[in-house]
Order: sequence, then structure tokens, then C-alpha cells
Amino acid sequence: MAATELRRISAKAARFTESVIREMSRVCALHGGVNLAQGFPDFAAPLPMKQAACDAILGDVNQYAVTWGAPSLRRAIAERATAYNRVPTDAERNVTVCCGATEAMIASLMAVLDPGDEVIVFEPFYENYGPDCVLSGAVPRMVRLHAPDWTLDAEALRAAFGPRTRALILNTPHNPTGKVFSREELELIAGLAVAHDTLVVTDEIYEYILYDGAEHVSFASLPGMAERTITISGLSKTWSATGWRIGWCVAPEDLTLGIRRVHDFLTVGAPAPLQEAAARALGFGDEYFAELAADYRTRRDALLPVLEEVGFRTFRPRGAYYVMADISGLTDKNDVDFAMELVADGGVATVPGSSFFERPADGASLVRFCFSKRAETLQRAAEILRERFG
Ligand SMILES: Cc1ncc(COP(=O)(O)O)c(C=O)c1O
Repeated sequence: MAATELRRISAKAARFTESVIREMSRVCALHGGVNLAQGFPDFAAPLPMKQAACDAILGDVNQYAVTWGAPSLRRAIAERATAYNRVPTDAERNVTVCCGATEAMIASLMAVLDPGDEVIVFEPFYENYGPDCVLSGAVPRMVRLHAPDWTLDAEALRAAFGPRTRALILNTPHNPTGKVFSREELELIAGLAVAHDTLVVTDEIYEYILYDGAEHVSFASLPGMAERTITISGLSKTWSATGWRIGWCVAPEDLTLGIRRVHDFLTVGAPAPLQEAAARALGFGDEYFAELAADYRTRRDALLPVLEEVGFRTFRPRGAYYVMADISGLTDKNDVDFAMELVADGGVATVPGSSFFERPADGASLVRFCFSKRAETLQRAAEILRERFG
């Protein structure tokens, strides 16, 4: 069909483009590059979890699970949320299993927001939150985190709250910066959420990936906050299984009713045999989570010095598995041109910083590197970076 014959798409769909992060993965494959763009591991998922998935499939767990999640998985989520996150959780009343944290976020927003409601989002932000706001009809109000430590400006946050503020989206540990929100920062947010009767939707998908003694504080664990918080997590990052599409949210009972309703008609449910395997994975012992964080520290410490050595200015992540890097010491180009040049001819794929900001110019001197990769992959990336900038 010729371009002139393209038909109208909805006003909502016309307001955003395809994901820059996922686009960079495609460009990388085209150029035969090393993919440090999209946030997925290139190493194996844990064997007992894979074995449990095979067992479930061979055991004919092939039909729809309960729409809001298999009982075994909801029980495992409730136990973990209660013990690790310190958020007392009931599997029947508070848990909804979704197709990834991605669906958990959009189902949550669609369940609690009406057109015109305002949502506070910290910037830079994980790019899905922009389209999530559009799809749920909400108006995002950005509050900037300031480099180099991505500090939160209390005054700017206070000023962002108003009569239409219905929710705040939090993400800790934070993609793309690696910031881990401190207890004091979370208490500031909690005070404002109470004062303005605001919900908090917190994406804690990197909750176990922490460095240098950083502590993960679940927002819902702060006094009185569980009643106004939707906590989102999933299998993708902690269990290295982004393709399984298992995520969940923990929310008060009244909000859970709304979330389950939206979820039911969006996707019906997450893959049934993989939910059984996820239940097994959530029961892994403490040593699994300690080893995961230690392995990620090794990966971070392999990439970070190389970036510094070749001329990037980096922000040392305290959680998650990304590094934001300032390119201004290396080039006069903007982030997109720089990233395209770096991936070309078997180079290294990154994500242009502009995709994490409302106004592209604000991220024009940044690119994001992902280090959830095998030592060999990071080594290969280091060789390419040294060849090009050394
Ligand atoms: C902050 C954040 N939330 C959610 C997701 C997506 O999670 P899932 O694979 O469970 O949909 C990602 C993936 O990169 C992420 O960085």
C-alpha cells in the first residue's frame, strides 16, 4: 500500500512512536553489533525454574489459569512481598499476576485513572510510562532528577502536586540511572501523597539488584502507605526470563478489584505453565538473590571503568543494570546520531538518552548502556569501545 493510502490510526496511537529501546535491538541485529541497548540478559535462566516449566508443560498445565493468577504463584508472591518487601499481602485479596510488569503497569493505570487525571513521573523515566499515560488518558507531570547523583528536588516535587494529581509513578531501583531512592526521599513522597490524597504506583522490578550496600525500601512498607500503593514486580529481571512475560502487582483490595477487571479483558491471563515455574522460582533461598546481586556487581565493575577510560562521564549505578553515560567529552553529535554511529559496522548498541525525557533535547548528551550480559559480551564491547575511542 502506498504511503498516501495509509489509514487513520487512533489519536492515542498517533501520540507515540515505537519503542526506541526495542528499535535499537533491531538495528543492532542488522549491523551485527554487541547489544548493550535493551535490558535483557544474554545468559541462561536458572535451571530449576526451567525444569519446573518443562514439568508443568509435560504435566498438561496447558489451559487458562485463574485470570488473576495461579493460586500457587499468588501464594509465593504474597509470601515474598510479606517477608522481603515488608508489605503484608494476602494472595486472595491483593495479588494480580499479569503478562509482565509492563501489563501490570498499564492495567494498574487504566484501573485507577480517568482522562485528565495528572500523574507525577520522575524524569529521566523508563520510556513505557509515557505511552502508559497516553493510553490511560492521564496527563504526565515530570519532576526532574538531577545529575550527577540524580537527586530529587523537594521543592520541584512539592510544586508538581495539585488538585488534579491522582497518582505518582515511582521506580526504584531506577531505570535508566541506577538510582536507589533513599528512605528519606520515599518519606518525602509519602508525606505529599497523604497531603494530596494521591496513589503511588511503584515499579520495583529491579528490587534485588543492588550494589555497594544500597537498601531497597518498598514504598508500601512505609507506615500507612500500603493502602495507597500498587507495587509492581516480575520475573524478567530477578530470574533472567524477560521472554516469559510474567509480572504481578500487589495492591489494596479495592484497587485490586479494578486492576483484575482491566487485566481480565486486556490479556485474560499470563502463561499457565510458566506461572507454575515462577511459583517454584520465587521460593529460591536467600543465596540465589545474594549471588544474583554479586554477579551483577562483577558485570557493572567490568563495564564502568572501560567507559570512563575511553572518555564517557558515567553515573555509578547503585541498583538495576544500566549505566547512564555522558557523551559530551567524546563528540559534538547528539545522542541519536552518536548511538547510530556507535552501533554501525559491528559496533555497540546503546539507547539514546533522549528516549528517557519528555523533551528530547534534555537527553541529547546521554546514552544508556545495559550490562546484564555475559563476561565475554562485555569484553567484546570493551574491545570495540577501545578501538573506536582509545
Ligand atoms: C523499570 C522497568 N519496568 C518494567 C520493565 C518491563 O518488565 P517486564 O518484562 O516484566 O514487562 C522494564 C524492562 O526493561 C523496566 O526497566
